[in-house]
Amino acid sequence: RHAVRGLWNGSASARMLSPRLKEAAEFYVNDNKHKVDYRGPRRAGLDGKQILCQLKEKARLRTLDGSEEPFSSLGWGRLVPPQALEKLPGAPFKTCAVVASAGAILNSMLGKEIDSHDAVVRFNAAPTESYERDVGRKTTIRIMNSQILTDARHNFSDSPLYRNVSLVAWDPAPYTADLYQWFQSPDYNLFTPYETRRKASPSQHFYVLHPAFIWSLWDVIQSNSQEDIQPNPPSSGFIGIIVMMTLCDEVDVYEYIPSVRQTSLCHYYEGYFDNACTLGAYHPLLYEKTLIRRMSRATEEDLKRKGKATLPGFHTVTC
Ligand code: C5P
Repeated sequence: RHAVRGLWNGSASARMLSPRLKEAAEFYVNDNKHKVDYRGPRRAGLDGKQILCQLKEKARLRTLDGSEEPFSSLGWGRLVPPQALEKLPGAPFKTCAVVASAGAILNSMLGKEIDSHDAVVRFNAAPTESYERDVGRKTTIRIMNSQILTDARHNFSDSPLYRNVSLVAWDPAPYTADLYQWFQSPDYNLFTPYETRRKASPSQHFYVLHPAFIWSLWDVIQSNSQEDIQPNPPSSGFIGIIVMMTLCDEVDVYEYIPSVRQTSLCHYYEGYFDNACTLGAYHPLLYEKTLIRRMSRATEEDLKRKGKATLPGFHTVTC
């Protein structure tokens, strides 16, 4: 409750979390699995426009293009799609919707509003079937973490969830974004299923985000907080929002910042309950969401009733 109010007014802090989530965040700070060594500034209190300009300057969208080792020697220059992600058919899109997978979207009746956008982004294994009334039926891009590609339960190679849409995958790499190290020990080996799908379906637009892009987002989040944020990559949701701010004139985000329907139900499509899904344990969600809240131009009514944040595309902003 406390933390959600903090998110609504754009000033959430770890102090507002339950002892359990506070301890979880502290565990990750001490663990520092990805060997984050951040030397940049920590200035809280930038306004929305300043954050927007900081992201526009620092967080340039990058995907693996096969030009760097070890990928160049492996022939990824020919493996990756010939056109950049920014040049996806239809891009730049006028209006985009980003649909967070939160349980709070249940009973939202947002489906029609979501589908009215030119492009709709969904995450990981989030389905539309039998949830159309609340989440819509259209999917343009699916953004996935590497577990989706490797965990047999998700059946990446055959599931219709990953067909007839553009795909963007990511995996946590060391903070230095050393591509050799990453290639040798990814969190989950997404490289093999990526190659397999690219060869089997060369016309499907399928990209892997560059680890330097992921960590540049993290740097912006940390630079806007005086607290030590979790030294782990931002959530797929945050990554997807920033990707779409690069591809769209305007981005509407749904149920990422929790609405009045806020619930501990983790995902709308499965019966698992944990507040960490909304407020963060591994991912620095509380801090990501604070930045999105500050940049949002949605009305307070839309924020609270729809869990809606409205963000301008980077190319519409003059810094
Ligand atoms: O859990 P998963 O990563 O698949 O969910 C997709 C995204 O939706 C998350 O990365 C997060 O940004 C957002 N989300 C959320 N609150 C939840 C569940 C998901 O903000 N309860």
